[in-house]
Order: sequence, then structure tokens, then C-alpha cells
Amino acid sequence: MSDNNATLTVGGATKDYAVMDGSVGPQVIDVRKLYANTGMFTYDPGFTSTASCESGLTYIDGDEGVLLHRGYPIGQLAEESSFMEVCYLLLNGELPSKTELDDFITTITRHTMVHEQLTTFYRGFRRDAHPMAIMCGVVGALSAFYHDSTDINDPLQRKIASHRLIAKMPTIAAMAYKYSVGQPFVYPRNDLSYTANFLRMTFSVPAEEYIPDPVIVDAMDKIFILHADHEQNASTSTVRLAGSSGANPFACIAAGIACLWGPAHGGANEAALNMLREIGTVDKIPEYIARAKNKDDPFRLMGFGHRVYKNYDPRATVMQKTAKDVLEKLGVNDPVFDVAKELEQIALNDPYFIEKKLYPNVDFYSGVILSAIGFPTEMFTVLFALARTVGWVAQWNEMISDPAQKIGRPRQLYTGPTQRDYVSVDKR
Ligand code: CMC
Repeated sequence: MSDNNATLTVGGATKDYAVMDGSVGPQVIDVRKLYANTGMFTYDPGFTSTASCESGLTYIDGDEGVLLHRGYPIGQLAEESSFMEVCYLLLNGELPSKTELDDFITTITRHTMVHEQLTTFYRGFRRDAHPMAIMCGVVGALSAFYHDSTDINDPLQRKIASHRLIAKMPTIAAMAYKYSVGQPFVYPRNDLSYTANFLRMTFSVPAEEYIPDPVIVDAMDKIFILHADHEQNASTSTVRLAGSSGANPFACIAAGIACLWGPAHGGANEAALNMLREIGTVDKIPEYIARAKNKDDPFRLMGFGHRVYKNYDPRATVMQKTAKDVLEKLGVNDPVFDVAKELEQIALNDPYFIEKKLYPNVDFYSGVILSAIGFPTEMFTVLFALARTVGWVAQWNEMISDPAQKIGRPRQLYTGPTQRDYVSVDKR
């Protein structure tokens, strides 16, 4: 708690509100007593000025382009760590010792299989179902299969549910892909790393062995790290809100997946690649830049702009380099990468984008990489969901353990009709 108070005068009455300090970043004004004191609510659609919770997981300084997980810069984690280590860090607060990491990897590896009956769920979907639709359904259905880890008041059950979700998500995601292409499901293999296992479950077929390429495994691992958590974004807030009512973890993560699907959030990676392909050649870029600037045109440059980053998204820096490495390694000469680089340069030098502080975000280059690896665009958001699962479960666990936690229940500014009498249909 800070020594400062914020003083607010409403209707002649003055009250002090405590100002709370974080370890770094803006202070917050504790307005929990505001309604009791004044009979008024605050109005903040989109929560641009509202801290919904206290959290020790992830810190973003949007003006400086900084992203820290438990204090560690995202660039360092992407370059030097592994996704499994980052998962441990997010869940437990500290980097693991060698033994702790080995134990954690063993635990996750032993949870990668899904209940065999879950495969029948897939067969209920049309083959052309969007894999995110399948993800929402199948992840929600996990609560029907793992009853022994749905008691949210038991820390051990919460831990097991968290491990299950992180471990099973690659299996579920790979199965969604296999179902869409009409190939048999591939079971996980315990001798492979988390990421290599996922690639194998996605791309191998029974007729032929699949040997994951270390450069691709490394790139994929980096992509997972870059998407692991991102503070109180829309899907994480959805998971927290769903969890605040006491809903079980599988249902909460399914809610997060549904929210992530939207094109303004996780769906932007799919939309960004579709946009780059639609632009097609460098000479068409000015036309699309003009459309993005036109107030009467709903078109936006997908993969550009961010609610919090008003400087280069630090994840995009790593992503751009990874895209270059992957394309080189695979010998892919995708013109879409040239369009992306040129579009970025033109936008970064355009007064509209400079003035509005619009920079490439994590999604701008990720689609180029994922497409080169062989994922269809519909799978991009699924990969985001896979990686973000650790962030969601870590935030959910933090929320459940927080003594200040209450059911999330925002209020509103009502602008509808005031009370009126019902009129029967023959009199209307
Ligand atoms: N292209 C053109 N103009 C834009 C863009 C864009 N991509 N993004 C924002 N603007 C303009 C917008 O028109 C508005 O202009 P004005 O002030 O004249 O009305 C101004 O910039 C502020 O935009 P906003 O919509 O009020 O900002 P926001 O914070 O509500 O939205 C955003 C953030 C990410 C939803 C938005 O920038 C956007 O739609 N970007 C494209 C979608 C995208 O790439 N999303 C991925 C985000 S990163 C991954 C993740 O975390 O999910």
C-alpha cells in the first residue's frame, strides 16, 4: 500500500481512496468502496483503465515494449530457455533446478494421452469443422472424463488438472488436425520432447516414420514460449471470470479458447496470413495501407496494433528472426514473407501508424512460420491456444489462491427504457 491517497469529491462529499503499489508499473486506485461511498460506478468499457486483479505472473510495459514472465524478459526466455521450463516458471514462480525440471517434464509427458473414449467426440464433428470449434468442445468435455481433478478447493487436484491441461492440449490439437484431413489419430510418444511430440502427432502417418527436424522443433518451441502468457488479456480475463464462479478448470479453459478465437485476439494470426496472401505482391501494399487508414473502410492491418504495446511488440522481434531461420532451413521462398517485411517498413514510416503507435504484434510473422512448417491457417489459433494454456492455468490457480478473489460481477450504465406497463398484443 502506498502512503498516497487519491481524493475524490462527488456531490460535495470528499473521500480518500487508497493508492496501491505494484513492484513495478502504474499504481492503482482502490475503488472498491466507491459505490458504497457515492452510489456511483466507474465507467470503463474495454477495461482500458481498470486493474481487475493483483498478479505476480507477467509484467508488460507497453510504452517501452517490455514483457517479463516472473521478472525474466521474454527475449531471454525465447533465446535461452525451453517451453517446458517457461511452463514451470509460470506455474511455480521460479526457474526449476535440473531435478525439478526433469520431474516436471516426466509428469507432463505421463499425462499426454487422452481418455480413449474422447476420440468419439471428434467423430461427432463435421470434417470441415473449424479446429477451434473442436477445441472448445473437446476441452470442455475433459471435465466429463477427469472427475478426480475438478475440486477447485483442493490444491492437489488443481495441480493435477493444470498438468493434464498442459499435457493433453498438444494431443487434442493434433487430433483436431488429423480429423480435419481424414488421417488416423497418432498417439503421443514419451521419448520425444513436448514440442517434437506435438509435431509428430500432427505430421506423422502410420505408413512412414516422422523424424522431427531440430530447427523446426526449436522454432515451434519459441513460438510456444512467445505465446505462453500475456497478463490480463481478453481470454485470460475470460478464464478468470469463468473461474471466479467456481467453475471447474476444464470448463474455464474451454471458455478461454472460445474468447481467443476472435480475430481481434488469437484469431489475428490466421487473419494476418490471409491478409498477406490477399495482398500477394509488394506493389499492392499501398492500396491496403490506404484502406487501413480509411475511416469508412472496416479493414484493419491484421497483426498490427495492440491494446497495451505502443512500441514494438517484443514478441514480434523474436518472431521475425525465427521466420527468417525457418524459411532458410526449409528452403522456402514464400513471397508472403517479402510482402510482410515490406508492409512492415511502409507502415512503420507512415504518419498514420506512427501517430497511432501501431506496430507489428506477435501475430504478424507467426503465420508465415506456421505456414512454412505445414500448418493450415485454421490451425494457427489452435497453436496459440495450446501455448496459452499454461498462462491460463497459472492465472486461474493464482486467482483461486487469492484471498481477495470474489465472483467477477461488473456493473453497468443503464440506458434502456425506465419502468413501463405491459401492453397486451391486441393493443400494440
Ligand atoms: N490497422 C489500422 N488501424 C488500426 C489498427 C490496425 N490494425 N489497430 C488500431 N487502429 C486504429 C483504430 O482505427 C483507431 O483509430 P482512431 O483512434 O482514429 O479511431 C486507433 O488505431 C486505436 O484503435 P483501437 O481499436 O481503439 O485500439 P484497441 O486497443 O481497442 O485495439 C487491437 C487493439 C489489437 C484490437 C487493434 O489494434 C486491432 O484490431 N489490431 C488488428 C488485430 C490484431 O492484430 N490483433 C492481435 C493482437 S496481438 C495478439 C493477442 O494478444 O491476441
